[in-house]
Amino acid sequence: MKTTTQIDGEMLEKLIETARNARNWAYAPYSHYAVGAALLTASGKIYDGVNIENAAFPAGICAERVAMFIAVSEGERDFTFLVVMTDNGGSPCGSCRQVLAEFNPDLLVIIADEQGHIIKETSLAKLLPDAFLPADLKK
Ligand code: THU
Repeated sequence: MKTTTQIDGEMLEKLIETARNARNWAYAPYSHYAVGAALLTASGKIYDGVNIENAAFPAGICAERVAMFIAVSEGERDFTFLVVMTDNGGSPCGSCRQVLAEFNPDLLVIIADEQGHIIKETSLAKLLPDAFLPADLKK
């Protein structure tokens, strides 16, 4: 079931495939909850990420933030679309929502399960309304 109208079908397939492949590299020996993310830039590049856990539990990081931090560290600033894949279609956590909102509070988000089924098609504006944004730091 791939029913979105917000993105070209071929690109959506590519993002889902990227998230699925990335998920194989998740390092989640504690939660056993593997997450794969695929983040699309306005220029059409895809950055992937996985969750990376740590024996000191709070030091671990989510897949969405890994994808975004790699992209930003390579100079990307303009993001249009995110696919997050888990076994059961779990939703991005609050910290990831905040990090993603920095560059595009209207980012489109697809939440998929491990079969690639779209569980939810949403946006950051819906997931994190009234986000604290760079403009809020202006006096
Ligand atoms: N996790 C993510 O990678 N993304 C989210 O948005 C939610 C949670 C990871 C963190 C941890 O490694 C595992 O899922 C269980 O919480």
